[in-house]
Amino acid sequence: MDGKIVLTGDRPTGRLHLGHFVGSIKKRLELQETNALFYMIADMQALTDNAENPEKVRENVLEVALDNIACGLDPQKTVFFIQSGVPELSELTMYFLNLVTLARLERNPTVKAEMKQKGYGGNVPAGFLMYPISQAADILAFKAELVPVGDDQLPMIEQANEIVEKFNRIYGDVFKKISPLVPEEGARLSGLDGGAKMSKSLDNAIYLADDAETLRKKVMSAYTDPAHIRADDPGHIEGNVVFEYLDLFDHDKMGLDELKKRYTAGGVGDVELKERLIMNLEAKLLPIRERRAELMEDPGAVMKILGDGTARARRVAAETLAEVRRAMKIDYA
Ligand code: TRP
Repeated sequence: MDGKIVLTGDRPTGRLHLGHFVGSIKKRLELQETNALFYMIADMQALTDNAENPEKVRENVLEVALDNIACGLDPQKTVFFIQSGVPELSELTMYFLNLVTLARLERNPTVKAEMKQKGYGGNVPAGFLMYPISQAADILAFKAELVPVGDDQLPMIEQANEIVEKFNRIYGDVFKKISPLVPEEGARLSGLDGGAKMSKSLDNAIYLADDAETLRKKVMSAYTDPAHIRADDPGHIEGNVVFEYLDLFDHDKMGLDELKKRYTAGGVGDVELKERLIMNLEAKLLPIRERRAELMEDPGAVMKILGDGTARARRVAAETLAEVRRAMKIDYA
């Protein structure tokens, strides 16, 4: 994965947490070194299910930008842009809409699950139902070849590739197939409560911007092993959130192995593991938190990064759209 055009993005609906760091930001940091990385803040996609909360989307554009930059995503290497600032994406979405049936949209398993979760019943917003088409446009307008995704986003790539096939068949070869970059083992983080996924809506997340005291409180409340009641009881590592996090953030593997042995044998209280996790997470998060606070002193500078990147992204997308209009025989001028 070198020298490729890569597109990645976040919906600006909340601050980013440790699950985002492990699941996507870490990969972005790697990718930006040897590829042309576009990082999109998907504000229009966020509005598909937040039409009545424009303030929330607006505020979080800055928050997700801050989170990513604080983690090391570098505006010198990566093109940061805001989706709505590139109207070519909306235009391409309109053209793609003709290539996808309503029945196909209704079959997208991720959209289906989200519709159910949001309880839309028969009243799903049209924009929400068709967001996979808009997402295909996000990717293809930049001719991105590689898209890092979570498992839940694989159906989006599949749908985008069907659009590529159909577009090329009708209008000639303009787009190439997209490859998803699937997360590695360990790229999904459980929630503090032991739930399968760390998520804002489940209220089980450690945020990148959490202060030291909040971090401590959250770790101290983390799910461990319900059968480990007294320190003397033998504890279980499997399914124990504190050990799951330690595996990712504690680099002293020998010390960690030794702790696991003692915990399994019995005689270790949960507080010992939790203190160890707090120390390791604090080491990771302190510099991010500090960098974030620094950036926050001048939000205008961050918005300028987004503005400059958006102008650049727009130039790239405009080239693709000129090609698309030619292929579709709507290049009148
Ligand atoms: N759907 C993605 C998410 O929920 C965000 C997104 C929008 C995206 N457009 C994209 C991701 C294009 C990759 C490529 O996180």
